[in-house]
Amino acid sequence: MAFYYRLFISGPRFRRCWIFLIIVTAVVLLLFIVVPWTNKCQNTQTIIRDWSIFSIDNSTEYQQAHSVLSDSSFRRQFRGEEIRHLAFLKVHKAASSTVTSIIQRFGWERNLNFLLPARSPNLISQNESINVNNIISDKDATFDLLCNHVIYDKEQFTKYLPKDTVFIGIVREPFDQFVSSVYYYKYRWSVPYLARLPSINPVKYLLESPNQYEPKKRHDSYTRNRMSVDFGLPEELLHTTDKRKILLYLQELNSEFKLVLIKEYFDESIILLRRMLNWNLRDVLYVSKNSLKYVPKINVRDRHRHKQHSFLDYCLYNFFLRVFWRKVRQQGEDFHMEVAYFRQLRSAVEDFCNEEKRNPAFKRRVFEAEANEFHPDIAINKDLCELMTLNEVDFTNKLKWRQFPNLRP
Ligand SMILES: *[C@@H]1O[C@H](CO)[C@@H](O)[C@H](O)[C@H]1NC(C)=O
Ligand SMILES: *[C@@H]1O[C@H](CO)[C@@H](O)[C@H](O)[C@H]1NC(C)=O
Repeated sequence: MAFYYRLFISGPRFRRCWIFLIIVTAVVLLLFIVVPWTNKCQNTQTIIRDWSIFSIDNSTEYQQAHSVLSDSSFRRQFRGEEIRHLAFLKVHKAASSTVTSIIQRFGWERNLNFLLPARSPNLISQNESINVNNIISDKDATFDLLCNHVIYDKEQFTKYLPKDTVFIGIVREPFDQFVSSVYYYKYRWSVPYLARLPSINPVKYLLESPNQYEPKKRHDSYTRNRMSVDFGLPEELLHTTDKRKILLYLQELNSEFKLVLIKEYFDESIILLRRMLNWNLRDVLYVSKNSLKYVPKINVRDRHRHKQHSFLDYCLYNFFLRVFWRKVRQQGEDFHMEVAYFRQLRSAVEDFCNEEKRNPAFKRRVFEAEANEFHPDIAINKDLCELMTLNEVDFTNKLKWRQFPNLRP
């Protein structure tokens, strides 16, 4: 007030000050009101700020709490029957190869039958669900397991798998998943639309002008809402601003999937998976594959662009992250003990298998872990190490040739 008062009584400079004041006020108005408002209009999707909408309703929660609690005690782990009918939705660039490797080993050791790709060494399809043309089958073939890339569609999945099949998926923090896809499909596979991106900071270029690079058909993109594409989310959800519609769809998915793993909490996910499937701890041991971590130079604006660019993936991820933590909370305290124990055991097994590979003097040694409250006796030899480190294409071929001997070259 004092400032305005001085302006009024400041005589001849009075008019200049007023003009100055009006300009300052106009600039402030523009910055704080008009700019955010126009941003909002350009991007209706930012309207959805409140992620609490992506929690699930009480009745679903209640049912789940009870279905999980009924098998939560690991002390009963050897009593329950292990689940052998399983469909794992292999989502792109989300640590899904490690899960595939676990499932392939599980099925191999029990002589189970897999739905296997007919057209490519390890992909059933990048743009379709399961159909007669993309899987290997013969007239009386039956299947137990699925863990190669294919688009989710409940109807198609249930057509080829037994009625009691359990569905499992995985998601990853959307930005990391995106960055990993850009580099992997640009450099490893030279996917044309990504190959056109400049080599210096391709991530930034793609985010700045997605329409210049992104394919028209969403199934052809590895970098736009790819996790949602893999989960078979309908196209209309990409264009809706109705968050209820998205939520309803995610709730439906949640009723179909027994568990969606979270890449960022991988060992917790694996233990939850083990418990839900009544598998043995030995069955879920894995050896980490080298995975490169790219750190592109990007700023807050780029991050924001990505949230618009792959909006549905954020909904999907946030939704299943909540569901995941709820399931973890429903486990007893022993859950975290089991995770901690698993980390130690897994790392020791990994060291053993790596040493086994490097050092021929190690041959025929066996890694042993005595029975305890987490598992019966475990013995790991060279053959098991080989299965654990076998790459996806070789493992898929190994399964294919056992299931369909006439396809062996
Ligand atoms: C949640 O749903 C269950 C079963 O429908 C019901 O028994 C329970 O009282 C509900 N809880 C709340 C907080 O509404
Ligand atoms: C899926 O991709 C394959 C090969 O890239 C192509 O031949 C096929 O037409 C595509 N299918 C659909 C439904 O777009």
